[in-house]
Amino acid sequence: MSMPAATSGGPDEGRARHVAIIMDGNGRWAKKRHLPRAVGHQRGVEAVRAVVRGAKGLGLEALTLYAFSTENWRRPDDEISDLMGLMKRFILSDLEEMASNNIRLKIIGDYKAFKPDVVELIEGALARTAANTGTTIAVALNYGSMDEIARAATRAAAEGPITPESIAAHLDTADLPPLDLLIRTSGEERLSNFLLWQAAYAELWFTEVLWPDFTAEHLKEALDAFAGRERRYGGR
Ligand code: IPE
Ligand code: IPE
Ligand code: MG
Repeated sequence: MSMPAATSGGPDEGRARHVAIIMDGNGRWAKKRHLPRAVGHQRGVEAVRAVVRGAKGLGLEALTLYAFSTENWRRPDDEISDLMGLMKRFILSDLEEMASNNIRLKIIGDYKAFKPDVVELIEGALARTAANTGTTIAVALNYGSMDEIARAATRAAAEGPITPESIAAHLDTADLPPLDLLIRTSGEERLSNFLLWQAAYAELWFTEVLWPDFTAEHLKEALDAFAGRERRYGGR
């Protein structure tokens, strides 16, 4: 059995390389203010922008953001189309800033299930930032961990025996550092089909803050908490 990387301290122990966030609470943020849910999602996009900008100074190699799950298709059509519209507008408005900040965009999940205009925009954004070498912002779109693991296992089985390593090599996150810290906003304490495999030894951090109110300061707070955690990976 191989061991997870970085099982004991080095100079960088306590520094997170890969953080993921379940960005939850847009609907409740809007409801509290008697505003339409769409406004909550719009403010959620503003929080994404602020956190992506703020991540720059935190030394992260990767930040993975859960934006649309395989289960979110259960929402009403008008909410889904609001979310698609926001996503398109975000790419159009923010791509150049991200590209010039050396951010590499990545998508995890089966984004090809989206409408052709969305797929085209996403692929343009991926191509525009593919050569960048700074922080990877991985956006989870039509992402579900069970779907990802099933896809990875299918590909692994076609190549030989299924092992934890062969599955891991085919996960959508295969090119990212191991997940260090998983954050969920809005007070919910569940994974909702997000990074189930990758979270095996990740540290978890939950906050009551609703996603539209989340800032780079909150991310910093989570990273400070992470720095104080002792990770044992089953050892002693
Ligand atoms: C998160 O906010 C955004 C997505 C899931 C797309 P929600 O829309 O889930 O907000 P709540 O959980 O209803 O407050
Ligand atoms: C998880 O939030 C998905 C995203 C943040 C994109 P949900 O709001 O969909 O999760 P549940 O339904 O509360 O578990
Ligand atoms: Mg929710």
